[in-house]
Amino acid sequence: MFGNSKDLLGIRDLPVSEIQEILDRTAEMKKIVMSQNRKTTDLAGRTVNILFYENSTRTRLSFEMGAKMMSSVACNISASGSSVTKKENLIDTARTIDVMQTDILIMRHGLSGAPHLVAKNVNAAVINGGDGTHEHPTQALLDAYTIIEKKGDLKGLKVVIVGDIAHSRVARSNIWLLTKMGAKVSICAPKTLIPSGIEQMGVTVYNDVEVALKDADVVMGLRIQLERQKGGYFPDLVEYAKEFGINEKRLKLAKSDAIVLHPGPVNREVEITSFVYDCDQSVIDEQVTNGVAIRMAIMKKAIER
Ligand code: NCD
Repeated sequence: MFGNSKDLLGIRDLPVSEIQEILDRTAEMKKIVMSQNRKTTDLAGRTVNILFYENSTRTRLSFEMGAKMMSSVACNISASGSSVTKKENLIDTARTIDVMQTDILIMRHGLSGAPHLVAKNVNAAVINGGDGTHEHPTQALLDAYTIIEKKGDLKGLKVVIVGDIAHSRVARSNIWLLTKMGAKVSICAPKTLIPSGIEQMGVTVYNDVEVALKDADVVMGLRIQLERQKGGYFPDLVEYAKEFGINEKRLKLAKSDAIVLHPGPVNREVEITSFVYDCDQSVIDEQVTNGVAIRMAIMKKAIER
């Protein structure tokens, strides 16, 4: 259970105590991921089905690997290879998967709110693997876990998120989570990529990356989501990189022990340079490893109902 719900659809409605519980349980799961005996019986006899309507490398694989490490029957279906191409609708597709006795349904969809609609129509626990520009709760949880691993606590940290805030579900889930947990969150992007009214989420807004990065403890780069943009938000990617890209010189404006995160996929030399991706301050690889552990902790919690 997540709060009063069988489903994990977003961070917005997830109580702080449950965020903390997931983060605590992840430490145990990480030990398993890092061991030479990656096997538990936590999901033995349970079924996990993964239904993605959008492409994914990290999120999909980490759910599947985690589910298999916990001994579940885990299957993967992408919309492009399913009867969705024969015009079956979303609810019917989800119900078909549900009546195969699915315990956990992991879903990604291009439309904000799609997993919420599915959750109302299935018995399985639905976990949102990203819905449109809305939320990506498991990404925010793994980001928080990674920050805590390096910094000890989220409270009081200055976290600066730079990139396509307007189209980013990662930004939204991170803003909910980090502000709930007491971090000071700033966002930075061209004015056209800042949603109006976002200050109400408790963030400070910058349009100058060199001002935003000053004294940051955590710097998070986000991909420019060209596939969601209808054009005209900024001149081109070269111009974006020049004005907002995080490079070696700009990273020096942050604290000397600042860490760099990025949810991936990274477009090198656009939102961050290769130097920044590969430098000692980057924890982008750790985020990916932690993604397996956090999803194991979440799936274990999902069957507890
Ligand atoms: C993100 C996503 O799909 O929302 N990727 C991810 O899950 N790690 C971010 C992105 O696509 O840029």
